[in-house]
Amino acid sequence: MSDYFMNTYRRLSATFTHGEGAFLFDGTGKRWLDFTSGIAVNCLGHAYPALVKAISDQSARFNHVSNYYQSDVTERFAQKLVEACSGAGMKKVFLGNSGAEANETAFKIARKYSLKKYGPGRHAVVTLKRSFHGRTITALSATGQDKFHEDFGPFTEGFKYAAEGDIPALDRALDNTVAGLLLEAVQGETGVRPLDQTYLEAAAAFCAERDILLMFDEIQCGVGRTGAFLACEGFGIKPDVVTLAKGLAGGVPVGAALAGEKAADTLVIGDHGSTFGGNPLAAASGLVVLETVNNPGFLQEITRKGEKLRSVIRSWNKPNVKDVRGKGLMIGVDIEQDAWGILEKAFEKGVLLLSAGAKTLRFLPPYIISDEEIESGLRILEEIV
Ligand SMILES: Cc1ncc(COP(=O)(O)O)c(C=O)c1O
Repeated sequence: MSDYFMNTYRRLSATFTHGEGAFLFDGTGKRWLDFTSGIAVNCLGHAYPALVKAISDQSARFNHVSNYYQSDVTERFAQKLVEACSGAGMKKVFLGNSGAEANETAFKIARKYSLKKYGPGRHAVVTLKRSFHGRTITALSATGQDKFHEDFGPFTEGFKYAAEGDIPALDRALDNTVAGLLLEAVQGETGVRPLDQTYLEAAAAFCAERDILLMFDEIQCGVGRTGAFLACEGFGIKPDVVTLAKGLAGGVPVGAALAGEKAADTLVIGDHGSTFGGNPLAAASGLVVLETVNNPGFLQEITRKGEKLRSVIRSWNKPNVKDVRGKGLMIGVDIEQDAWGILEKAFEKGVLLLSAGAKTLRFLPPYIISDEEIESGLRILEEIV
């Protein structure tokens, strides 16, 4: 552990020096197959040539202009991003730097939309008990899990938590104090759990009939991860607001809150801002991600590779593997073993893997991973599990 960092992360002992495709290397030449993509960030793997070129070309032009002006590359990125999300009804975007910041934007949109429509007193946002929405005080307030609420109160007022899958409870929670509902179509941090189709449809119907903003946190499950550009599209649901981050610029920090017809013009001049929001380097690399990922053939490959990964794990027939689930290349495997122990052993044998809870392994490989790489990584894991 370095003496210079606050001790906030449980880390494995590698200091990476470079990466290529689905592999990371340290200074001794040791390499690891990356089933994590830096937690769903490096969706095109490492050193993807078009990304390297776009970032270095852009850096030679400028790295930043303030939001007092526009830049050509950020304009193009915003246009392509809104177009990529237009199937889900999105019309406009606000760009920031992280997932938590994107969610903060969504909460501001919901509060203001509700204030303008209903007047004061109706500003609550409902989220789910197993949700994860980020680490700022307000994003933690939105996160339903108690373990995140222990040491950091008081929290932002105005969040209520509903139990996953319980439609009558959601019906009750969405009362006349509520401005918005925020859902992860596939809950990432809490075990890679896709929400139920009927639950999502009921949620959409409640929000539509009560004019509560339906918001999807697609920070982990968006940008092609589930095999649809937006996970909500895979469920046939059209939200009012979508938040994205992680994979959106393939490794350069970025966050985005998109809004559809109802709320696209809710925030106006002076309501919101972010110094780095719309950063040209993020926009340049984000354009490469959008051009590469948002096409049907590429998305089908994500689905196919995900099915392959899941079917190989199922074919192990290991009694301690209890469930294999997920969508596209977002996969959770419940296991009757300490997940962190497996992560450590896999790491020793050259495979990077994530957990999502004490007994769930999480796979978020880069979309460019090959079939052979999937097979070789899984052979190593089969021996460990
Ligand atoms: C679903 C979800 N929302 C929000 C966040 C927070 O994103 P960030 O760490 O970029 O603030 C995460 C991060 O893991 C996430 O998975």
